[in-house]
Amino acid sequence: MTFKLENLVRENIKRLTPYSSARKEFSGAARIFLDANENSFGSPLEQNYNRYPDPLQSEIKVRIAKINSLSSSEIFVGNGSDEAIDLLFRIFCEPKKDNVLICPPTYGMYEVSAGINDVAIKRVNLTEDFRLDLREIEKAIDVRTKLLFVCSPNNPTGNSFPRAEITRLIEMFDGIVVVDEAYIHFSSEESLASEINNYKNLVVLQTFSKAWGLAGVRVGLAFANAETIALFNRVKPPYNISQPAQEAILQALKNGATVEQTIAEIISERERLIEKLSEVSCVEKIYPTDANFILVKTTNAEKIYQLLLGEKIVVRNRSRVELCAGCLRITIGTPEENEDLLEALEKYEKSFIH
Ligand SMILES: Cc1ncc(COP(=O)(O)O)c(C=O)c1O
Repeated sequence: MTFKLENLVRENIKRLTPYSSARKEFSGAARIFLDANENSFGSPLEQNYNRYPDPLQSEIKVRIAKINSLSSSEIFVGNGSDEAIDLLFRIFCEPKKDNVLICPPTYGMYEVSAGINDVAIKRVNLTEDFRLDLREIEKAIDVRTKLLFVCSPNNPTGNSFPRAEITRLIEMFDGIVVVDEAYIHFSSEESLASEINNYKNLVVLQTFSKAWGLAGVRVGLAFANAETIALFNRVKPPYNISQPAQEAILQALKNGATVEQTIAEIISERERLIEKLSEVSCVEKIYPTDANFILVKTTNAEKIYQLLLGEKIVVRNRSRVELCAGCLRITIGTPEENEDLLEALEKYEKSFIH
């Protein structure tokens, strides 16, 4: 493989002089801060948020580096992993010229970000049983393919792809392979974050929105070699993670044991729900899942979706997505929520009997 990061980066990004914020130029201990046009009088709240937050989220990175045996320079903290996805386009993809490759059905934001950035999409569908089609992926790649997205565990199918297949793609491709591990904490597979120094073209995405239960805080992560992370830092908005968000993440990082327990509960509830759903006759197939949701093929997705809405239960109707005809994507809820869902489905079945 002839991978050279600088060959992939857009010329305008190479030339860019990044914005240098007041808090970046001076971050030591001072007595009086009159450098950033903040409001020295304070905030109209109990807690003051009148100062700009740490632009590089150093404390968070030290903690995450320790957990993942990485260095802080190998971590980007974003406004959700969606920010990292958008930055990848802005750093690497020349609008109207470059393209990226995705493997549908998969997470919708790759395509939306491509559209926003005016970058073409190449689609190589998963096989019928939701495996990566390695041969077709290899054939579809051309000299202008900059990013290859692999979502594992995959949304909406729920399955993980074998590690050996992902590393084969990383070894075969001269662009950036983005492995989206939003659901990795629910999976039996190991994260690829430990491989970022073995593969210079690997970017691993994770998020606090799923296993960590902090979707409202909007914090996601990218792991990559320090050279790639430096590019993220050049292009990101100066203060992309708010002070309350940084505080919430630091607090949550102290409660890792609770998170482990919640993950175990969600997995056990997932297995219970799979068992129960397999007894429901409008369920035709339950796809294997490694995530906190289940893709379920039903006899009539639209009707069941509407019935559940009538019961004020919202699931995701994926029946119009390629390879997902008849499918609903159901997030694992609390035991009570799952019971309510099962009851509503039973009601649906009974409506046919009477
Ligand atoms: C596969 C995948 N990646 C990324 C995200 C976005 O996560 P975040 O909340 O960190 O932006 C989601 C959200 O549903 C997702 O399913």
